[in-house]
Amino acid sequence: MLIPPYKIKSVESIKIIPRAEREKKLREAGFNPFLLKARDVYIDLLTDSGTGAMSQEQWAGMMLGDESYAGAKSFERMKKSIKEIMGFDYILPTHQGRAAEHVLDAILVKNGGIVPGNKHFDTTKAHIEWAKGKTIDVTISEADNSSEYHPFKGNLDIKKLEKIIAENKKNISYLLITITCNSVGGQPVSLANIKAVSTLAKKNKLLLFFDAARYAENAYFIKTREKNCAQKTIKEIIKEMMGCVDGVLMSAKKDAIVNMGGFIAVRSKTLYQKLVPISILFEGFTSYGGMSGHDIEALAQGLYEGIEENYLAYRVGQVAYLGKELKKRGVPVIEPFGGHAVYIDAKKFLPRIPQEQFPGHSLCCEIYLEGGIRAVEIGTLLAGRDPETKRNIYPALELVRLTIPRRVYFQEHIDYVISVIEKVWQKRDKIKGLKLVYEPPILRHFQARLEPIKHH
Ligand code: F0G
Repeated sequence: MLIPPYKIKSVESIKIIPRAEREKKLREAGFNPFLLKARDVYIDLLTDSGTGAMSQEQWAGMMLGDESYAGAKSFERMKKSIKEIMGFDYILPTHQGRAAEHVLDAILVKNGGIVPGNKHFDTTKAHIEWAKGKTIDVTISEADNSSEYHPFKGNLDIKKLEKIIAENKKNISYLLITITCNSVGGQPVSLANIKAVSTLAKKNKLLLFFDAARYAENAYFIKTREKNCAQKTIKEIIKEMMGCVDGVLMSAKKDAIVNMGGFIAVRSKTLYQKLVPISILFEGFTSYGGMSGHDIEALAQGLYEGIEENYLAYRVGQVAYLGKELKKRGVPVIEPFGGHAVYIDAKKFLPRIPQEQFPGHSLCCEIYLEGGIRAVEIGTLLAGRDPETKRNIYPALELVRLTIPRRVYFQEHIDYVISVIEKVWQKRDKIKGLKLVYEPPILRHFQARLEPIKHH
C-alpha cells in the first residue's frame, strides 16, 4: 500500500471540459497537446519539470528570500545544501538545467569535441551541438527493448565507452552520465556502473559529470534494486555517487522540487573560475545566476525534501502503481517502470499506424480526447529530421510519456488516468494516424500543427 507522506494545505481547482469541447480545443491546437491551454486539461502529465507542489517550508522560505544582487544569504543556504548533500564546493546558480548546459559547454566543448554518455536529453544534446560538439550514445543495448527486464537500463556500455575513448582520446570534451536517464524511460544507472565509468575517466584523465536532474530517484533505485545497497541510506548512496564525478549539471525543477532553477556544481576551483565569466554574461552574477533570492531559498529547502526516503518511496511507488495497473489491462508499457513517468510503447499499442503517421503523437491526442489528460510523445515527432537528408528520423522506440508531477496527484487521479487509458486501449483499432500541416525547422514538436489522416 502507498503511504503518502504529506497532506494538502492549499488546493488548486481543476475541471474537466465536455468531450465536444475537448474535440474543438484539440482541433484549434493543431492536434498538438503542447498548444492546448492548461485550463482545458484535466490531468496534466506533460512533464514533471517545474510542476511539483512546494512544501509549507519552501513557501515560508520564499518570504526569507534575500534579493541582494551580490552575496545574498539565500545563496549561502543553497551552497550549504549542495555541499551537505552532494559534497561540492563551487556552485554557480543558473535559471534552469539547460542554462547550466550552456555555460559548461561554452567552456568544455571544443570545436568537434565529443561528449559520450547514456542517451543525452534533447536540450543537453542540442547545447553540445550548439557549442560545435557532438554526442555519442553509449547506453546498454537492453535499453532499446521495451519488454526486457533490466534493473538499470540507464547503464553505460563500458566496452563501447572504452572503444570510443581509445578512438577519440584527444577529442573528448567530457563524459556525461544522465541520472535517471530520461530519454530511455526514466531508467536508473547502477552504482557499480557509475564507479566503472569513473575509473575509466580517471585512467584517461577525462572529466566526468552527472546530468543530475533526477539523481534522488536514481539513488532510490540503487537502494531498492542493487546488490549490497539496501542497508545504505539515500544520503550515503548520493555521497558515493557524487564521489565518482567532477561535477553536476542540475535542473532543480525535478528532484529539488522547485518551479524554476538550476545550477552547476564542481569540485575544481580552476574550472569554476573558467565558468564564472560565461555564467555572468548569460545568467547573472555568481550568487543569483538567473534566479531570484526567493527561488534560491525554495531550492535550498527543496533539495533536502527531495532526498527523504518516505517521499521517494511514495513517489516511485506511485509511478510503479500506474505502470502495474496499465500492464494488468494489457497496455504495452516499458519495464521496469521509470522514476518519474510511465512510458507506453506506441508501436505496440497502435501497430497499424506506420511511424511516418506519428503513432505516439496520435495516441497522445486520443488520450486527451478520451479524458482530458495531457501526455507527451517521445517518438518520431520529437526526433525531427536528419539535418543532411531532411528525412524523418525514426527512433527505435515510439513512446508516450505519462509524466507524474511531484506531490501533486493522489491515488484517485492516478485511478482516473488508468480508466481513461483502458478505454483508449479498448478502442485502439479506431485510432487514426496524423500528418503534419505545419512544421518548424527545429524543435518541431513544440509548434507543429497536424491533422488526422482520412481513410477512403
Ligand atoms: N536533463 C534532463 C535529464 C532533463 O530531463 C531536462 C529537462 C533537462 C536536462 C533540462 O532541464 O528543463 O531545467 O532546462 N527535462 C524536462 C522534461 C523538460 O520534460 O523531461 P531544464
